[in-house]
Amino acid sequence: MTALRTSVMDQVGVTTTRTTRGVRNHEVSMWSDDGRRLPLDPHRWHGEPSPFEQRLVAGLDGPVLDVGCGPGRILTALGQLGVAALGVDPAPGAVGLARRRGARVLQRSVFDPLPGNGGWRSVLLLDGNVGIGGDPVRLLRRCRELADREGTIVAEVEAPGQRMQRCRARLVPGFGHNSWFQWAVVGVDAIAPLAVDAALGVARISHDAVEQRWFAHLAILETDDGGT
Ligand SMILES: C[S@@+](CC[C@H](N)C(=O)[O-])C[C@H]1O[C@@H](n2cnc3c(N)ncnc32)[C@H](O)[C@@H]1O
Repeated sequence: MTALRTSVMDQVGVTTTRTTRGVRNHEVSMWSDDGRRLPLDPHRWHGEPSPFEQRLVAGLDGPVLDVGCGPGRILTALGQLGVAALGVDPAPGAVGLARRRGARVLQRSVFDPLPGNGGWRSVLLLDGNVGIGGDPVRLLRRCRELADREGTIVAEVEAPGQRMQRCRARLVPGFGHNSWFQWAVVGVDAIAPLAVDAALGVARISHDAVEQRWFAHLAILETDDGGT
């Protein structure tokens, strides 16, 4: 007999399938409209910060704005260190999970009005979030507005050799509410010109050989008119 099947995506990357044979969680993957699988690690969002992430978090100045915070594991780690932090994410499932973990989160897009404009010492774009909205320069400009003049924008990027790619993407499997969205993927050697277009400069790159992850630490460049 065929097992009866219902599936529910929790909006933060893990799909729960219930059949007459039991419950199974399986991973959602992200695909571009030209058929390429894009980097995505949903299990990471639901876990604890990795050793490299813990070192990264320990080096951040507060207050911290975590853009696209997902279920809030980085916010929780910051809270444990006594660093003031706020998350922003439009996905209700992600916001619900983060709040249950005790994190402060606003259910909004990074492009919506946000508190503390120009006052965030660290603005995070972790786990490929530099791709949010499909236009990294626009996103970096928005993060620059949000950051303090002495602040840092930390953007996770992909391995060397990955040129900047903009595309429409969607999560698979999708169950009814799953539509195409604009996304971008940026390699570590493609971030510098994008940063300059957003009036930012690459202060340094951090890399972890074990986890094979790259982070660009971006500083605000003064513009010709002396503004920020
Ligand atoms: C790849 S997940 C990152 C999860 C989290 N940063 C982590 O490391 O655990 C991307 C997140 O970005 C959020 N997102 C998508 N568009 C956004 C927007 N316009 N503003 C803020 N967050 C957004 C999604 O809802 C999702 O939770």
